[in-house]
Amino acid sequence: MNFFIKTFGCQMNEYDSERISYLLESNGYKESADIYKANIIIFNTCAVREKAKNRLYGNIGNLKKLKSKNPDLLICVGGCTAQNLKEKLLKDFPYIDIVFGTHNISELPELIKRKKSLNNNICSIKEKGSDRFIYKFKRYSNFKAYVPIIIGCNNYCSYCIVPYVRGKEISVHPDKIIKHVKKLVLDGVLEITLLGQNVNSYGRDLTSNCKININFSKLLKNISGIRGLRRIRFITSHPKDFSDDIIFTIKKNENIAKHIHLPLQSGSDRILKRMNRRYTAEQYLKIVKLIRKEIPKCSITTDIIVGFPGEDEEDFRQTLNLVKEVRFDRAFTFIYSNREGTEASNFYDDKTLKEKKIRFLKLLEIQNKISLEENKKLIGKKFEVLVEGFGIKGKNILKGRLENNSIANFKGSKKDIGKFKYIKIIDTKTFYLKGKLCK
Ligand code: SAH
Ligand code: SF4
Ligand code: F3S
Repeated sequence: MNFFIKTFGCQMNEYDSERISYLLESNGYKESADIYKANIIIFNTCAVREKAKNRLYGNIGNLKKLKSKNPDLLICVGGCTAQNLKEKLLKDFPYIDIVFGTHNISELPELIKRKKSLNNNICSIKEKGSDRFIYKFKRYSNFKAYVPIIIGCNNYCSYCIVPYVRGKEISVHPDKIIKHVKKLVLDGVLEITLLGQNVNSYGRDLTSNCKININFSKLLKNISGIRGLRRIRFITSHPKDFSDDIIFTIKKNENIAKHIHLPLQSGSDRILKRMNRRYTAEQYLKIVKLIRKEIPKCSITTDIIVGFPGEDEEDFRQTLNLVKEVRFDRAFTFIYSNREGTEASNFYDDKTLKEKKIRFLKLLEIQNKISLEENKKLIGKKFEVLVEGFGIKGKNILKGRLENNSIANFKGSKKDIGKFKYIKIIDTKTFYLKGKLCK
């Protein structure tokens, strides 16, 4: 039996798909990269914006033909939209066989067995809980790996669906994390990315419930002491929990990548308050200033939402001003998307999509100009990159990641993949650099 898995959404979902693949393979199924050769199709879904949901609905719609040709085909939908919509998915698409949530991934092999002996379709969703087997996953890369350290989110930013579909924050025990990372390093992993919706609040639940004296910067320091671990990354940070300690820990430890993804969302205090972000523009700038002072080479990237309900011209101008002042290396920009059930879905929204798009394009134009200017500063300089694979297939163009998380393309050969190499930057585009391997 072959299964095919398609992942939507963030790195946490990518990791969950690695867990699903592991579980199914250890139950005797084989992964196929070709959807047409699969007996089981799994969609691991995202719900963060309406667009993600619409794309999913299009994709599930397309499966109807496949299912009518092959009635034995099993269609399984998991992840955040499954957790959000539950039985509604089965109502909208009666040919889905199994809907499973974000808290019961490890049940999937059991659900598949049950479905085969049943005629009904199954919707199995748990409302909370984490998984003892969080670190059982399929290794797609032999040199890098994701390591979730905290699951869920307690922040309830007013626009965001994530806390509703991922549950309350649950931190993984630090000993378990360290043991897991040590094992990964023994297996040849050079780079890990610590995952969490808000990694900076790591350990809070462990301290209050189990009296374990741990927080994110301590964990980071302990992980960075693991011998043989060349690079540590982490996403995502939240400005309200981003302590000075974290900055000093990054500074002091060579194997912690000098890159911080620090979502701003808006430059207006009024909007930040309505978003329930619990920091001001000034507090955000204070963090940026300390990073710039202590770790001048550190790149800073961000997420920004445009067109939040009630955002007026002045609020938007303040976002643009902050973007110009900080000069982010890169920014992920989004038009506000109304998510049913969130606090902001009740807010009065007087702007049309057209008006929001105009703002969005304005922000994009300014940020792209800054990204290009910042990239140009790197031309002529030498950097170490971890070679991740081919940038352009068939042309011996490799793709490497700089410490600052930028991607560079350069000529090389397959044997360089999975290694650290030095390159010199020779040219740049807005979203990637062009380099040359150093001898
Ligand atoms: N936990 C992370 C990531 C959350 S989702 C964090 O706190 O930053 C990634 C990004 O999607 C968010 O940073 C936000 O910019 C964007 N986003 C979340 N909900 C959104 C919505 N309803 N509309 C538009 N963008 C949204
Ligand atoms: Fe969503 Fe806010 Fe939690 Fe990030 S911190 S996942 S934006 S609620
Ligand atoms: Fe999407 Fe769920 Fe991640 S909503 S962004 S896949 S946590």
